[in-house]
Amino acid sequence: MASNRLLLLPGDGIGPEIMEEVKKVIGWFNERTADTFEFDEGLVGGAAYDAHGASISEEDMAKAKAADAVIFGAVGGPKWDDVPYDVRPEAGLLRLRKDLGLFANLRPAICYPALADASSLKKDVIEGLDILIVRELTGGVYFGEPKTITDLENGQQRAIDTQVYDTYEIERIAGVAFDLARARRNKVTSMEKRNVMKSGVLWNQVVTATHDKSYKDVELEHMLADAGGMQLVRWPKQFDVIVCDNLFGDMLSDVAAMLTGSLGMLPSASLGAPDAATGKRKALYEPVHGSAPDIAGTGAANPIAMIASFAMALRYSFNMITEADMLEKAISNALDKGLRTKDIAQGDQATISTKEMGNAIVGELEALA
Ligand code: NAI
Ligand code: MG
Repeated sequence: MASNRLLLLPGDGIGPEIMEEVKKVIGWFNERTADTFEFDEGLVGGAAYDAHGASISEEDMAKAKAADAVIFGAVGGPKWDDVPYDVRPEAGLLRLRKDLGLFANLRPAICYPALADASSLKKDVIEGLDILIVRELTGGVYFGEPKTITDLENGQQRAIDTQVYDTYEIERIAGVAFDLARARRNKVTSMEKRNVMKSGVLWNQVVTATHDKSYKDVELEHMLADAGGMQLVRWPKQFDVIVCDNLFGDMLSDVAAMLTGSLGMLPSASLGAPDAATGKRKALYEPVHGSAPDIAGTGAANPIAMIASFAMALRYSFNMITEADMLEKAISNALDKGLRTKDIAQGDQATISTKEMGNAIVGELEALA
């Protein structure tokens, strides 16, 4: 009985190409494991705009709300540059995040052994790296009011963005970080700038209070966000889970991501609050990269970020930890064999296509079963 409901939203650009490879992986799990997946597909981004002039239809929004997890490809590209702002491809993703209440963005930075040489940092610094950035996604300076540009009497203009955080927003993101740390190496580093920002003072206090109330077993460390950026590059292995606000999280997760190399390797998850009745969280899983219009249709896209995003769905939405570990191991094994898409090949290394990488990962799953 298929009890796990997925909605696949491939999007545009390389989105549909990498989604095809995830479908092979889902198909494999459906054949091999007792826990099976039921999946439906919808249109988002440029694909939705071309079909019906919106970045996502009401029907597909309803499907996303009903699903246990949304698996999202990528959206956007020059083809839709002149499309009105509210129906642009990217608007579909923003609407999904907002309407599903996805306030916690999880961005792992993992170094696969076979790619330890690919980093711009010394091998010693990143070999074995496995850290997780938890970014608050629905509050902070990106959404706070007032948010204006006004004309001043002296002929100049004034721009205002406002950083706003309420206690409950900090409590719930801290709770996610502590829960995740318990299943990892049991350490959380909270980053803010309490030395210059009131929101940093509150952030620091609420994270500490949440820790002292419910998570005393987890090690908690506080770090100023600018120093945190330095430490991430100096010795990233000192961290386990890092929690921060929307703006610092945006920057620090991009820094952490690039510690390990290619954009084509990076998965992410966005989680909502647990449902009061079922305990299930709304969730969306997507690669960090965009729709790569420059390589769309050439078979050069690396499907690993997309497939690793599905591994995160196994882990965080379906509690299929063994299967998630197995899928991540299958990716690692394919890399160990020297299989490379163009974006992760070094020197004169031979390269394979999107489809060949997907097939190779399914082959490695088969070998591990
Ligand atoms: P991008 O991430 O699409 O591409 C940046 C570079 O990385 C390109 O050279 C691309 O070929 C390469 N690349 C990305 N993913 C790859 C993969 N899986 N395999 C191999 N190479 C890969 O970012 P860019 O070019 O800035 O944006 C293109 C479009 O994507 C824009 O419309 C942008 O708004 C949108 N975008 C969408 C996102 C999403 O759907 N969540 C996130 C980021 C950008
Ligand atoms: Mg960013």
